[in-house]
Amino acid sequence: MDLKEKIDSAAAHVGIIGLGYVGLPLACEFARAGFQLTGIDTDPAKVDRVNRAESYVQDVPNAVLASHVQAGRLRATTDVAALRSCDAVIICVPTPLRKTRDPDISYIVAAVGAIAAEIHPDMLVVLESTTYPGTTEEVIRSRLESTGFKVGRDFYLAFSPERVDPGNARFNTRNTPKIVGGITPACGDMAAALYRKAIDTVIQVSSTESAEMIKLLENTFRSVNIALVNEIALMCDRLGLDVWEVIDAAATKPFGFMPFYPGPGLGGHCIPIDPHYLSWKLKTLNYYAKFIELASEINGNMPHFVLSKIVEALNVQRKAVNGSRLLILVVAYKKDIGDVRESPALDVIKLLQDRGAEVVYNDPYVEEISLDHGILRSSALSDDLLATSDCTIIITDHSSYDYARVVEKARSVVDTRNATRDVKAGRKKITKI
Ligand SMILES: NC(=O)c1ccc[n+]([C@@H]2O[C@H](COP(=O)([O-])OP(=O)(O)OC[C@H]3O[C@@H](n4cnc5c(N)ncnc54)[C@H](O)[C@@H]3O)[C@@H](O)[C@H]2O)c1
Repeated sequence: MDLKEKIDSAAAHVGIIGLGYVGLPLACEFARAGFQLTGIDTDPAKVDRVNRAESYVQDVPNAVLASHVQAGRLRATTDVAALRSCDAVIICVPTPLRKTRDPDISYIVAAVGAIAAEIHPDMLVVLESTTYPGTTEEVIRSRLESTGFKVGRDFYLAFSPERVDPGNARFNTRNTPKIVGGITPACGDMAAALYRKAIDTVIQVSSTESAEMIKLLENTFRSVNIALVNEIALMCDRLGLDVWEVIDAAATKPFGFMPFYPGPGLGGHCIPIDPHYLSWKLKTLNYYAKFIELASEINGNMPHFVLSKIVEALNVQRKAVNGSRLLILVVAYKKDIGDVRESPALDVIKLLQDRGAEVVYNDPYVEEISLDHGILRSSALSDDLLATSDCTIIITDHSSYDYARVVEKARSVVDTRNATRDVKAGRKKITKI
């Protein structure tokens, strides 16, 4: 059987490198489609948990994982030699920034090194990690071809950006349309054939660079629009206007407007990071990506704006930040999930602790966080905790909270998400951004 026949009959053995927020749900989709899956991760704890059918990704229920593991369709390993028996390999490793805010593609390089050691004829390799245009061609193709294999002839290579939105109840890995671009048309066709077996809609584009750029457009679009609305929030603050009313009313326009909402700053592994991959690449071409840098500056300053709102709320009580007891509601960057990566809550807490505040937090999804000033553990959200905190700061609006109770019991509330919009009593205690 050639690779296409193996894909069409779901007989292809699929390897996924990186079993995180992206890799684990993807592995489950391919297992659901009947493929044999091997997940490879450098983290032995994740590997053990997958093999014990114990999910650590909120969007993957234990029962779903267990059904694939128990049926023998999905197993995990730290051993990269497992790639030898894989017909298709999908790379889902992290792509963070270095301290200098330059792309760190070392995880991709390590994964590709492992594939190069096990490459065999007819192998399909797909990169899903978000990265700058040109990575698949310049970094992966050249490394894999250094083995003597030729792309499009001996192996297939494509890029397919992951678009997963953790915690989204409507759109998941399966029903979010998948973009695929190959190095050669045959590469694109082969990768598209594989994804069509597991994903509802697959859209093929002309090149890997185009596929890489599409993901960066999507995330830059979000970053820039969030920055715009954050700046509108700063303007409304100066004008004494309620930015939430302004946005909601503007959103009644049935065409030409799409609402974005202000907040305490950007969080997560994508929006604060990915646009910098694009601006870095453009710098190498002597082009300065102005919107990206400006958006990053505005969004990056939002925790300071939140600090100014906390100062305002404490001022009413004739209190200073120094020595105050402040309660942060939610350290996750996003509603109803437990991901704290790049969370603006961490920036706000640092600003407060640096100024001498005693900070406590509650987050039903996050048991503890590690900070410059040590480890903080989530405190139970008792009436007493609310009543004894000088200010309660809503950083993220998990749906599980009773906001009327929060406002009733709290001394003062800074609401960065308009979570208290429906609370009728005690509105004087609320400071909104
Ligand atoms: N999380 C999201 O919402 C999201 C959405 C779209 C795109 N992405 C992109 O997808 C990629 C992966 O993100 P994620 O959120 O799944 O990251 P993650 O940190 O949750 O998972 C990555 C996994 O890769 C493993 N790993 C690292 N190096 C490895 C190696 N050499 N071999 C094997 N395993 C290795 C890590 O141990 C980790 O388990 C990133 O490029 C990210 O930008 C993420």
